[in-house]
Amino acid sequence: MAENLVRVCTAADLPPGNVKSFEVGDERVAVYNIDGTFYATEAQCTHAAADLGDGILEGDVIECSLHFGAFHVPSGKVVQPPCCIDLKTFRTEVKDGQVYVDLSAPAATAS
Ligand code: FES
Repeated sequence: MAENLVRVCTAADLPPGNVKSFEVGDERVAVYNIDGTFYATEAQCTHAAADLGDGILEGDVIECSLHFGAFHVPSGKVVQPPCCIDLKTFRTEVKDGQVYVDLSAPAATAS
């Protein structure tokens, strides 16, 4: 599929250990900075309607703030119930201090 990079924020907007949600086209996307590497997933928790941008990022795991389900951010895999459906991931790229998300491609770390 064609590359479709959309700028979401500056790298400086999101220091390591932080997560924030952004509207990217029709999609709400959670962007994570894990030790200086940026990742992106769909922002809505697959359990209900919580925004993972409001969740707690611990290492490479995002814990939902509503019922405390959790996902491994690089792969999108569920690691803690009540979630049972993995998150969609998106490819990210940092260029000239700007963070871009590609809604047409999963993260290289997704499995
Ligand atoms: Fe996220 Fe329930 S909405 S765990």
